[in-house]
Amino acid sequence: MQTPYTDSARDPATVAAILEAHRGTPGAMLPILHAIQDSLGHIPADAVPLIADFLNVSRAEVHGVITYYDHFRQQPAARHVVRLCRAEACQARGADALAGHVRQTLGCDFHGTSADGKVTLEPVYCLGHCAVGPNIAIDDKPYARVSTARFDALLAACGGER
Ligand code: FES
Repeated sequence: MQTPYTDSARDPATVAAILEAHRGTPGAMLPILHAIQDSLGHIPADAVPLIADFLNVSRAEVHGVITYYDHFRQQPAARHVVRLCRAEACQARGADALAGHVRQTLGCDFHGTSADGKVTLEPVYCLGHCAVGPNIAIDDKPYARVSTARFDALLAACGGER
């Protein structure tokens, strides 16, 4: 279940604790970034220099890793997160048309949040159920064979209906 971002005051202490937990861990960059996002819901900008200093790398390197992976968020997500598979098998099963419907329904593009602030839309590149696409996940729960009508129903069921 996604951890909602709730209290920026705890960010520095949380980041410091995560860094300390990874002291001496080889290749700690990705585990640290995952742990921060799992705890805070995103990677706060203020965490970048702390991570860079801890790992003795440049801030640009940390930023480059954060921006390379679609998984990492630089801003807090909405209460609900819709992740839509953009990989080939799902595309072959209608994911592009579904993506158009989802973007129109939410009124935002990928990496954006609906105008009412309820739903963040993110791309994902395979959810592991390629034979039964198009696939989405809502708040980390996967759904297969998602039609536009089914998406509308799922969105309404999670309270994010438009
Ligand atoms: S390609 Fe979409 S779940 Fe694998």
